[in-house]
Amino acid sequence: MPTNTDHHTDPTAQAIIAKMRPLIKSLRQHNNAYYVLDDPQIDDSEYDQLRRSLVELEAAYPDLIQPDSPTAQVGDAPLAHFSQIEHDIPMLSLGNVFNVDDLGEFMRRVNDRLSDAQQHPAYEMELKLDGLAVSLKFEHGRFVQAVTRGDGKIGEDITQNVKTIRNLPLVLDAASDIELLEVRGEVLMPKAGFARFNKAALERGDKPFANPRNAAAGSLRQLDPIAAASRPLAFYAYSINQGLPDNIATQSQALAWLNDIGFTVSAVQVVADLDAAQTYYESVLAQRASLPFEIDGTVIKVDSLDLQQQLGFLSREPRWATAYKFPAETVMTIVNSIDWQVGRTGQITPVGKLEPVQVGGVTVSNVTLHNFGEIQRLDVRAGDTVSVHRAGDVIPKVTKVWTEFRPADSEPVTLPKTCPVCDSPVVLPEGEALARCTGGLFCPAQQQEALIHFVSRRAMDIDGLGERWLISFFEQGIVKTVADIYHLFEHQQALLTLEKLGEKSVANMLAAIEVSKNTTLPRFIYALGIKGVGENTAQNLAQHFGDLPEIMAASIEALEAVPDIGHITAESVHEFFRAQHNLEVIQALQDAGVQWQRVEAAASEGLPLDGQTWVITGTLHQMARDEAKAKLQALGAKVSGSISAKTSVLLAGEKAGSKLTKAEKLGVNVVDEAEFMAMIAQ
Ligand code: IVH
Repeated sequence: MPTNTDHHTDPTAQAIIAKMRPLIKSLRQHNNAYYVLDDPQIDDSEYDQLRRSLVELEAAYPDLIQPDSPTAQVGDAPLAHFSQIEHDIPMLSLGNVFNVDDLGEFMRRVNDRLSDAQQHPAYEMELKLDGLAVSLKFEHGRFVQAVTRGDGKIGEDITQNVKTIRNLPLVLDAASDIELLEVRGEVLMPKAGFARFNKAALERGDKPFANPRNAAAGSLRQLDPIAAASRPLAFYAYSINQGLPDNIATQSQALAWLNDIGFTVSAVQVVADLDAAQTYYESVLAQRASLPFEIDGTVIKVDSLDLQQQLGFLSREPRWATAYKFPAETVMTIVNSIDWQVGRTGQITPVGKLEPVQVGGVTVSNVTLHNFGEIQRLDVRAGDTVSVHRAGDVIPKVTKVWTEFRPADSEPVTLPKTCPVCDSPVVLPEGEALARCTGGLFCPAQQQEALIHFVSRRAMDIDGLGERWLISFFEQGIVKTVADIYHLFEHQQALLTLEKLGEKSVANMLAAIEVSKNTTLPRFIYALGIKGVGENTAQNLAQHFGDLPEIMAASIEALEAVPDIGHITAESVHEFFRAQHNLEVIQALQDAGVQWQRVEAAASEGLPLDGQTWVITGTLHQMARDEAKAKLQALGAKVSGSISAKTSVLLAGEKAGSKLTKAEKLGVNVVDEAEFMAMIAQ
């Protein structure tokens, strides 16, 4: 595995061997999981990275190569129970490129080996199908044999299993004159079939396969062809290796002919140059998720078969083709440190600072570890090797900690006792996932985050006031509270002296601030950044109470009657409006001209449950509690979180506890879930 230390600087042999041993152990274990059990525990990219780390060590210290190193083996060993067959022509593999520069380099190398007149040949591009390579033989147009790639020279006879693949033509009328036709291609399991197959396996109590490629591999190695026949496999042809018809001169013609005579082939395109190749690659990458099968990139081949012959092979790879692979979505790297960040409402979240890596096409150097519980679950520590996964636009995630590569002196992470920014005590409230700084708005990190939240698009939407400037104003003391934003115009001269802030930006900023003064009540409430009050809750509060003074005056009980608000949020809202500092800021905002329209409270008059107060307790099975609450409110009822003499009805689900006892004591009407469902069905 990659390490931060440079192992070229006078290492002792022991230290090098100590690095090799866990790599060897891990590779052997993963080889077995992959080749023998068809049940890989890691991604291909992770496996490649492990292998590369070992290969690099072995290249630097050839004297120390361990006798049992798995780098000495190539490919997958043929299994004993299938008969072994030697390929007429070895089945080789492809080199890889990962970016347009390296693809350009590949094309240059092709040109260098061709005469002037032959340079800049046309290329043909295909999908790189993520299945298993097989070689098929047809004698006089009749399918006679299928062999796996094996180690490239010798493969396994899987004729009986391949025969059951439904899209494979077993008789080729158009090839009846060809004595021996060898077609190679990929056997794969389409995504939909894989999902169905795995679901059925789970229902039977069998272990599902990790991915479609392993499902295809496992299916081809089924010793029982009847069982193999039930696997949803498909064959995609990609080359003619013997028996090429005379009139075919290019790879694109070969695939067109294979398609004509009954084979399935993947999307193919002939491209003239690097730009066109890049365009094809990008369009395939964009379609990746919507394709019916998995691919891990594209393949680019010199189109002319003559030129292919001329270019030949270099060791195990053709010089005339390469795989242009998609960026790896799971990559291993090192956690340099684990930092704690303080959020707007004081939540303290751990962030892994990584040795930067390319994952899914972008460089990732930070990864959120969510909360202390997640750190404990993963047992991740500073110095650890981890796998980081990022697919599409999804945020990067640590998916594995490689404890076998952990430094001997590593220590478990502990929750900080004090806030890393303001040094106030940190608490982890009972039953909550996130630890919190108790510094409140005394904590600069919380002040700063509160400002950023206030101007954000879904809050006050002050577009012209970017985060960077806001932080800079905060650091200079020009903006301390959100209300100070509306006094920025008084500092116009000071702003203009700031580096990189031109007259125009200042004017735009001030104009945006001015515009934001006319806002809506839900936005304003959301912008205040009260703990537990997201956009929905802000909307509900506004609708329920109509205006700010009513919300500010509301009791905890009254707040609990608002849809979506439970006891904790009700307390948080209540507490927020009892803090003198907050009241002053709100007053200052209004004095500066921030205003909104009153929201007309939803009328409950005339609704069936108007005037009733309900409480919900216990577990409901037919709907979520929030849903039940919304239904009751739609019928005109108020929903409260606690039982009192004023409660009209208690809806008691399963395992109702103290609330039920209290309701019975107070003589409050109780309904169970079935009665409630019957009632709302009317
Ligand atoms: S052509 C000389 N075309 O990729 C090798 N291979 O990494 C020519 N593969 O073993 C192979 N899609 O299993 C070729 N359109 C495609 C392919 C493809 C997937 C696989 C094949 C091969 C491996 C090499």
